[in-house]
Amino acid sequence: MPKFATSPGTRDILAPDSARWRHFQQVFADVVEPAGYAHIIPPMFEDLGVFLRVGETTEIVTKEMYDFEDKGGRRIALRPEQTASVCRAFVEHRPVTPWKVWYGGPNFRYEKPQQGRYRQFDQVGIEALGPDDPQLDAEVIALAMQFYAQLGLRQVRLSINSLGDSGDRDRYATALRAHFSAHLDALSAESRATLERNPLRVLDSKRSEDAAVIAAAPKMADHLSADAATHFAHVQAALRSASIQFVVDDRLVRGLDYYRRTTFEFVSTALSAAHTAIGGGGRYDGLVADLGGPETPGIGFALGLDRTLLACDAEGVFAAPASRVDVFVVDVTGGAEATSICSALRAAGVGADRAYEGKSMKSQMKAADRSGARIAIIIGDDERTTNTAIIRTMDDGSQQSAQRDNLVASVRQALGR
Ligand code: HAM
Repeated sequence: MPKFATSPGTRDILAPDSARWRHFQQVFADVVEPAGYAHIIPPMFEDLGVFLRVGETTEIVTKEMYDFEDKGGRRIALRPEQTASVCRAFVEHRPVTPWKVWYGGPNFRYEKPQQGRYRQFDQVGIEALGPDDPQLDAEVIALAMQFYAQLGLRQVRLSINSLGDSGDRDRYATALRAHFSAHLDALSAESRATLERNPLRVLDSKRSEDAAVIAAAPKMADHLSADAATHFAHVQAALRSASIQFVVDDRLVRGLDYYRRTTFEFVSTALSAAHTAIGGGGRYDGLVADLGGPETPGIGFALGLDRTLLACDAEGVFAAPASRVDVFVVDVTGGAEATSICSALRAAGVGADRAYEGKSMKSQMKAADRSGARIAIIIGDDERTTNTAIIRTMDDGSQQSAQRDNLVASVRQALGR
């Protein structure tokens, strides 16, 4: 018989982690929905062309896309991210602006799997289309920070930068190309190859041999148009007045080509691994037009759920939610009593589980322990004869007897509900 296991870069998320994942999305929704962001659920696969706009020079597009031809001969890709899908949806449905949406769900990139880097990974994120108001940039960043605080994370560092408008970016790319070309011998082979594709990405290199040439490279700040520079100054002022701490990192270029003006990244200083970026985002003012829509500015972020949870583990916060099984029914008289008691409790909105196959008292008590229930109800022959039940508090082992006729009320009282 063949044995199957998950593909590289994918995982089964089992309990209690699965409950934590769901709770994560709920906490996110509770932060962004009151700020006017409505839920959008884009499809997990789309026409490949939608994602080519992420950047034909990025590895996400050149190496990591899960693309294939479907049975109808369409060129399809599993989404590597959701910003492009949201912009495609905007063009398709033409909602009124500002259009503010949030999403959560899996994305697919054929990357080298390692801790914090998966081929299927979850993100939550928001996108706001319409205004190019720097106050919106600050709002978007503030919501991410609010969410991190809600999770209990304290060690999140925010870096921001401006990549200017498309003309600025092109001029900067030309200046960088000239600089790096003049120092080719000092660059690593990898960075020389990156230079061919996209000189901005050379700034991302973490290789020690590249550090000196990168440090001496021209700065984006010196290539910003007056408009872009003013916009960036206003974003910083808005963040300051919201008491949000940040560092300006003029080497922050991010891994996608669609960014214009504001870009930002969240790094967990509690993580020591190479992949400490737990989220990032920025403006993508040309993307909607690139996808066939009207010129529409946009800004948003996506936070990696897998990596953020690693950061939560490192800081010892955001534990898995408590079990939803309130009561475990231990019935050593055959199991029929457990059936009727569970039905009554469940109908009354009390979480109830039980054992099957007439297991021993010892084995049923072990199952009660594992279930995370706060209370066990025990039915033995005596209880069945006298129409009673034992209510046992799992924490301290204290027990009391209750009448079967008002068992639900007694359980509620024991649970403090
Ligand atoms: P991104 O930087 O590619 O941006 O991804 C955002 C976050 O997703 C990263 O900071 C990281 O936490 C997580 N992430 C990315 N790749 C992986 C992976 N292979 N395994 C685990 N986690 C990963 C975007 O995706 C943009 N769409 C963000 C955005 C929204 N920009 C504007 N709006």
